Amino acid sequence: MAYDLLKGKRGIIFGALDSNSIAWKTAERVHEEGGKFVLTNAPIAMRMGQIKELAQKTGSEIIPADATSEDDLGNLVNESVKILGGKLDFVLHSIGMSVNVRKGRAYTDQNYDFSHKGWDISALSFHRVMQTLFKADAMNEWGSIVALTYMAAQRTFPDYNDMADNKAYLESVARSFGYFFGKEKKVRVNTISQSPTPTTAGQGVKGFDGFITYADKMSPLGNATALECADYTVTLFSDLTKKVTMQNLFHDGGFSNTGVSKEVMDNFTE
Ligand code: NAI
Repeated sequence: MAYDLLKGKRGIIFGALDSNSIAWKTAERVHEEGGKFVLTNAPIAMRMGQIKELAQKTGSEIIPADATSEDDLGNLVNESVKILGGKLDFVLHSIGMSVNVRKGRAYTDQNYDFSHKGWDISALSFHRVMQTLFKADAMNEWGSIVALTYMAAQRTFPDYNDMADNKAYLESVARSFGYFFGKEKKVRVNTISQSPTPTTAGQGVKGFDGFITYADKMSPLGNATALECADYTVTLFSDLTKKVTMQNLFHDGGFSNTGVSKEVMDNFTE
């Protein structure tokens, strides 16, 4: 059901790789709510992904940008403002990748070149995106910037590997940049801490299948889906959440505040 919550709003959506991607579902929901946007992803993902299909469906243009490149991001922001016909109201950062995870390196056996690259893509890129928007004065007042994160930033999940540290950094950047963006441009910055979700990035985590089931059994409302995450993001882009900023918002069916559930306990009692 659509409510025209984003009618007349313009933005950029990073990270739609395929129809499982959280960014893909968000693009579809933003479109339904009347928002217009440019889609972007790393040039390599353009070749592998199905982003053109999404662009057609939502009447959007695609501008490739590697989130580790200032030049690419500068071009993306300038071109998006031109294409969309004005400054931006919303930006979704939905980017994550650990080279250590991909190459099977344990947390206690990191290759630091891999760590550096993964941090650059998954964490520092959020600062880079915001600094590009800030310097170009590309955001409208009362605009909204959202990045996606995971609870391994607060609590240890051994197989989440160095992405836990990357997410802790990402959440800190949201608070720090949120201060400056709020003071100077009246723009809000938040992170959504999402349940485990079966996407390309999610399934890269070792033991994902067991883990997603465990999270589901622990959460009173069950795991939040990618589509539900898209719905929540729409509310954060809308004018209904104007004073929510510098927050890490758990969107996890209650997992983060649950000590143990009956379903999980049942596995340990007769
Ligand atoms: P996904 O694999 O569909 O999306 C990750 C995206 O990052 C891809 O589109 C990929 O092309 C993009 N990317 C990688 N390197 C890039 C670069 N250098 N420049 C620009 N883009 C680049 O997976 P998903 O799950 O939709 O991930 C989106 C976000 O949600 C990530 O930040 C992820 O950590 C976060 N998240 C995912 C959860 C899950 O269980 N799937 C749980 C909580 C948070």
